[in-house]
Amino acid sequence: QPHLIIDTDPGVDDALALLMAHAHGHVHALTIAAGNVGLAHTVRNALTLMDVIGADTPVHPGCPVPLVQTPSEDAALVHGADGFGDVGFADPKRTAENESAALALIRLSHAHPEATLVALGPLTNVALAVRLDPSLPSRIGRFVIMGGAVNGHGNTMSTPAEFNIGFDPEAAHVVFEAFPAFELVDWEATVRHAFDGATFDRWLEQGDERAKFYAQIGATSRAWNARRGRTGVIAADALAMAVALDPALVQRAETHPVMVEMNGARTRGMTVVDWEARLDRPANARIVFDVDMARFEALVARALGVPDAA
Ligand code: BDR
Ligand code: CA
Repeated sequence: QPHLIIDTDPGVDDALALLMAHAHGHVHALTIAAGNVGLAHTVRNALTLMDVIGADTPVHPGCPVPLVQTPSEDAALVHGADGFGDVGFADPKRTAENESAALALIRLSHAHPEATLVALGPLTNVALAVRLDPSLPSRIGRFVIMGGAVNGHGNTMSTPAEFNIGFDPEAAHVVFEAFPAFELVDWEATVRHAFDGATFDRWLEQGDERAKFYAQIGATSRAWNARRGRTGVIAADALAMAVALDPALVQRAETHPVMVEMNGARTRGMTVVDWEARLDRPANARIVFDVDMARFEALVARALGVPDAA
């Protein structure tokens, strides 16, 4: 089983990724970012989900705001005001750790250099960690990031940026400069790997209590997508987690220099790819284009407790 350290802002699709991680991997800790909704909600959601799974994975609260910019846009419209579909769950049984996310990331990198770091939210905590300890990247075995939109088809309201990068562009810049090699699962790959709506509904019906929970928290985002004319089910963080759990399911990827635009009036927070190697920049990002959809679906269905999933 792959060993994982996960930075996340749960969030509905984060929850699916976390179900997959606990079903198919060994999770050392969750470090929690603000993003989809505020930090108090994302921490609480992580703890709620650990109750559902029956996992005692430590949950480390992170930085509540972006490094520089004032938070302007969250994703409460999609994920619900509380980030988990406004279902109204009882208080979680456990509490969060005292150690903050950035410090936990540094400590865990020493204890588990074999682990894969998976970032499913804005990169604020990872940026803080690498600023505190610039040697951090040398102790991260693999690093998979859900973020960016390599051809400019992002998903935020105000710019063409993708949400995780647009929420904290300075943090993303720090991370993209500091880590010599990471795998990037962008929003465009996510859209190409949507699940068929009817298939997903069948998983939710046939699965165990994890599927019931996911059906509850996911209703708001399903409705949001339906209003936008999407019939498929998009789960960005689940795709990134699939790549983290099973690197062999990647069918097409290219490695290029990827940078973060911080200054543009209309392009702030966008990812910029040097496709033709014109700039003298290190090729830091392995951009994932295509994965084996059947293997991805099997990882998800099994994590929802669907019997006999391939
Ligand atoms: C990313 O933004 C969030 O809304 C999702 O959880 C995902 O991490 C997609 O752009
Ligand atoms: Ca997320």
